[in-house]
Amino acid sequence: MPARPAYIRAMTDTLTADPAGIARAASLLRGGDLVAFGTETVYGLGADATNGAAVASVFAAKGRPHFNPLICHYRDADAAFAQVEPNAAAQRLAAAFWPGPLTLVLPRRVTCPVALLAGAGLDSLAVRVPAHPVANALLRAVDRPVAAPSANRSGQVSPTTAAHVLDGLGGRIAAVLDSGPSDVGVESTVLDLTGPRAVLLRPGGVTAEAIEALVGHVGRPIPPAAAEAARGLRSPGLLVSHYAPSLPVRLNAASIGLDEALLAFGPPLPGAVLAYNLSLQRDLTEAAARLFAGLRWLDQAATQRGLSRIAVMAVPDHGLGLAINDRLQRAAAPRA
Ligand code: TXA
Ligand code: MG
Repeated sequence: MPARPAYIRAMTDTLTADPAGIARAASLLRGGDLVAFGTETVYGLGADATNGAAVASVFAAKGRPHFNPLICHYRDADAAFAQVEPNAAAQRLAAAFWPGPLTLVLPRRVTCPVALLAGAGLDSLAVRVPAHPVANALLRAVDRPVAAPSANRSGQVSPTTAAHVLDGLGGRIAAVLDSGPSDVGVESTVLDLTGPRAVLLRPGGVTAEAIEALVGHVGRPIPPAAAEAARGLRSPGLLVSHYAPSLPVRLNAASIGLDEALLAFGPPLPGAVLAYNLSLQRDLTEAAARLFAGLRWLDQAATQRGLSRIAVMAVPDHGLGLAINDRLQRAAAPRA
C-alpha cells in the first residue's frame, strides 16, 4: 500500500508528545474528533467512547465493513472497574498486569456511559489500561473512556509509529500524537472473563502462561473461526442472541403495516404509529451512532404498544451503510 501523498497526510496534525500536544489531543477528543495516539502495543485510533457519533466515525475512517467491538482505554483500574463489573480473576489480573498489554472483557455496568456502538451492541465491554506514559497522560487529560482500535485502515497491518498512522489515515483524522515507536508492537492479549471460565480471544502482549499462573486454566487454543464466533462477530446465531430485538425485523420496507413499528432512515414512511429515525438527513455516520440504541428503544416501545414487528427502511449499501446493513441483516436473520 503506497504512502498517502504529502499534501493529504498534512491535513492531519502531527502533535508532539509534550504537555501542549497532549492538551491539544485531549481537547480534540473531547470535542468529538479522532486522534491517533501511541500505546506500548500499537497506535490506537482514539475517539471519546461516550460519543456515539465519534465512535461511528472511527469505523468510517478505518473503512471497516463490520462494527467490531472496540477496546475502551482507561487511566487506571478504578476508572475501568467503575464502568464494568470485575470478578475475582479480573481483580487479580489487573493488579498483576495493569497498566499493560492486557484487555479484559467484562459485563458492562448498567450505568456504563460508553456508547453501545463502541461495544457493537454487546452486553460486555473490553477494557484496558495502557502502560505508555503518554497514553496515560492523554487519558487523564481526556477524563473519559477512549475507544481505540488499532490506527490502520481495515485490512492493513497495525501501526507502530506515527508515520505508519499517517500512511493509512492521514487526511482522515484530526491528529496523531507522536510518542515514538510502540515497543510491544503486537496488540494486547484479549481475555473474555464473562463466562464461568476465562477464554483467550486474542493472544497478545501478555502471555497465556503468565495469565494461567494467576487464574488457572484458560480456554485455548481458539481456532480463528471459533474465536470470531466467541466474539459474536461472524456467527449470526451468537450475535443475534446478543443484541437482536425480541420482535421480528423486516428489511427494505417500502410501506408500513398497522402492526409494525418503523426504523426510519430519512423522511419516514407515512402511516407509522411508532418510529425511530436513524437519521432524518440520511447521514450514515449519524445512523451508525444511533443504530444499536434505536433498535433497543424501538423493540421495547413497540412491545409495550402490542406491535408485532419492526419494519426497517432501506439504508444505502456504501460507506458505513455496509456495516449498518450487516448488523440489520443479522437482526433480521431467522432465529435459531
Ligand atoms: O493493543 C491493543 O489492544 C490495541 C491498542 C490501540 O490498545 N487495540 C486494538 O484494538 O488492537 P482492535 O479494535 O484492533 O482489537 C480489539 C479486539 C478485537 O479482536 C475485538 O473483537 C475484541 O478486541 N473485543 C473488543 N470488545 C470485545 C467484546 N465486548 N467481546 C469480545 N471481544 C471484544
Ligand atoms: Mg486491529
